[in-house]
Amino acid sequence: MIETITQLDALRARVSGWKREGLRVGFVPTMGNLHAGHYSLVMLARQYADRVVSSVFVNPTQFGPNEDFTRYPRTPEADTSGLEGAGCDVLWLPTVESMYPFGVELAAKVHVPGVSSLLEGAHRPGHFDGVCTVVTRLFNQVQPDIAAFGKKDFQQLAVIRQMVRDLAFPIEILGGGIVRESDGLAMSSRNQYLSASDRPKAAEIRRALIAMRDALLSGQQRTQVEEAARAQLTAAGFEVDYSVIRRPDLSEPDQGERGDKVALVAAKLGKTRLIDNLEFS
Ligand code: PAJ
Repeated sequence: MIETITQLDALRARVSGWKREGLRVGFVPTMGNLHAGHYSLVMLARQYADRVVSSVFVNPTQFGPNEDFTRYPRTPEADTSGLEGAGCDVLWLPTVESMYPFGVELAAKVHVPGVSSLLEGAHRPGHFDGVCTVVTRLFNQVQPDIAAFGKKDFQQLAVIRQMVRDLAFPIEILGGGIVRESDGLAMSSRNQYLSASDRPKAAEIRRALIAMRDALLSGQQRTQVEEAARAQLTAAGFEVDYSVIRRPDLSEPDQGERGDKVALVAAKLGKTRLIDNLEFS
């Protein structure tokens, strides 16, 4: 049976009990409205840990003023039974008040320079400060040995890895592969905002990413490949924030450079903003 915990002292008692028994604790932070992508992270954490805690907290500080914080889907019953099915032991369900007892404008904030300011950071100012601050708080509350994040949010994973390294968190970070719908659309809580006519178009992002990879590997110039993807998505009805090819650390590769790369896209279809990426080498 999964145990739902809403008070910090109860969470600490449960986790320290496990640690006294010598058990390794895994952690999967989420904002709820869970799908197979989230559950795959719970199953990944299970492989490396004896007990798994997952949190559901829709973090207000990582949403911009015109973003979807208030209408972000909240489905606590389905999330609880889904987490149980995936092998989660404890659902940590803090309230906004217990997460931000001094108000959301906390005195201390965690800012990871460099990688936080690119791409998502440039289009969503302050987003990664909100993510890093809440993830730090969650890490200090749960005190896991390992934590799993999805590659769907490729830049978020890079930012968290840098934060953990720079601030010496004693936590091993695992990256989980992207779980997709049958037409290739990356699973996301935001997909349900898509209108019935936009939903089939959304798979174009995956096709654009594959076309970017193939064009780059066939020797085309990177900036031309990026522009072609922008044109492909614009023609399909998207408003494109970025379509780029980067190194895994998100720096810009040189022309013809070998080695690992990632193609990343963020684009809006109607009011729904979608992100996806494809790693290749
Ligand atoms: P959320 O969007 O709920 O995502 C929670 C975790 O699930 C993240 O690590 C995300 O990358 C992963 N995930 C989402 N969709 C996925 C998919 N299709 N395949 C694989 N993994 C997927 O990311 C957040 O919440 C928040 O920023 C959080 C880290 C919880 C901080 O508030």
